[in-house]
Amino acid sequence: MRIVLGIESSCDETAAAIVREDGHVLAHALASQFDDHAAYGGVVPEIAARAHLQALHHVLGECVNGAGVTLQDVDAIAATTGPGLIGGVMVGAMAAKAMALSLNKPFISINHLEAHALVVRQSDPVAFPYLLLLVSGGHCQIILVANIGDYRVLGRTRDDALGEAFDKCAKMMGLGYPGGPAIEQAAKSGDAHAIAFPRPFMGTVHADFSFSGLKTAVRHHIETLTKQAPLRDADIANIAASFQRAAIESVEDRLKQALHALGGNVPQTLVVAGGVAANQALRTRLSALCERHAMRFAVAPPALCTDNGVMIAWAGMERLRLGIHDALDAEIRARWPLEGMQAA
Ligand code: KG4
Ligand code: ZN
Repeated sequence: MRIVLGIESSCDETAAAIVREDGHVLAHALASQFDDHAAYGGVVPEIAARAHLQALHHVLGECVNGAGVTLQDVDAIAATTGPGLIGGVMVGAMAAKAMALSLNKPFISINHLEAHALVVRQSDPVAFPYLLLLVSGGHCQIILVANIGDYRVLGRTRDDALGEAFDKCAKMMGLGYPGGPAIEQAAKSGDAHAIAFPRPFMGTVHADFSFSGLKTAVRHHIETLTKQAPLRDADIANIAASFQRAAIESVEDRLKQALHALGGNVPQTLVVAGGVAANQALRTRLSALCERHAMRFAVAPPALCTDNGVMIAWAGMERLRLGIHDALDAEIRARWPLEGMQAA
């Protein structure tokens, strides 16, 4: 069986993994930069690039040493070549290209979004076409995944990505970075009906997203409360729970619109991917939506929803199986929409 090594460095995780054709993960390693960026409440590109440079050597060493195979046994080297923070992308992609060159193995250029879109198939053989909700820190889209490389965007955000909205609201509440897990945790002890936050675009016929109005409403609510006294833990819990509920209901409504637009051509499966797919409240809500629409609900394990090396190695495997690989001068891109990809 073939094996692929994958490298991820497009945001704030330096990660590598070696994956076998049957989906088995031989080894994986990951270094998060949370502490480097925490003080800024978001990822600082320059700091990220330097941190990837420092961490990659160790991450690769840990991955290869733990795999029980040698680099000579690897059939291809894959790396994220975009979209993402360009300094970081360059670090991982250049390391992968150098390895491919020295080992005389094929190099596979991976679109980070495609890796999020396909990783579910590493553990669950979801057939094409499927409907994909891709919700991460930088992206928020509803996509019809027709095949590898063949993507039709049905809805996208007009302002913030969903993960970005979680991160910004968490920052306003004084919760840590990344904000998604912090809000999910705080929401557990809050009342999701405590505050009536808006659900942007609710009921409108397109499937686009908007979260800036919701974010502004959270800011106004916090400003009003803090005029009297600092936020109490109970306030934070209620804001977190009410925000999370409004955001999730908005996502559910957008998905309903996308399903409606597909008419009789609704695929059998809904897949949720990207960092926010780790959110249990979102998973529960969308799983119930699928039941009502007689669809199967599929999502990767939470650790494979946020950025990781397995998703890059797996996307590499999907491409290698089709005989696709790339030249060593493959482009590195800050922007790389899924719609612009070549169908396999
Ligand atoms: O996919 P990802 O790791 O990186 C990007 O490619 O953007 O996604 C990170 C985003 C962050 O905005 C983070 O706050 C959010 O995913 N996130 C969550 C949860 N875990 C991560 N949002 C809500 N609930 C979570 N449990
Ligand atoms: Zn990502």
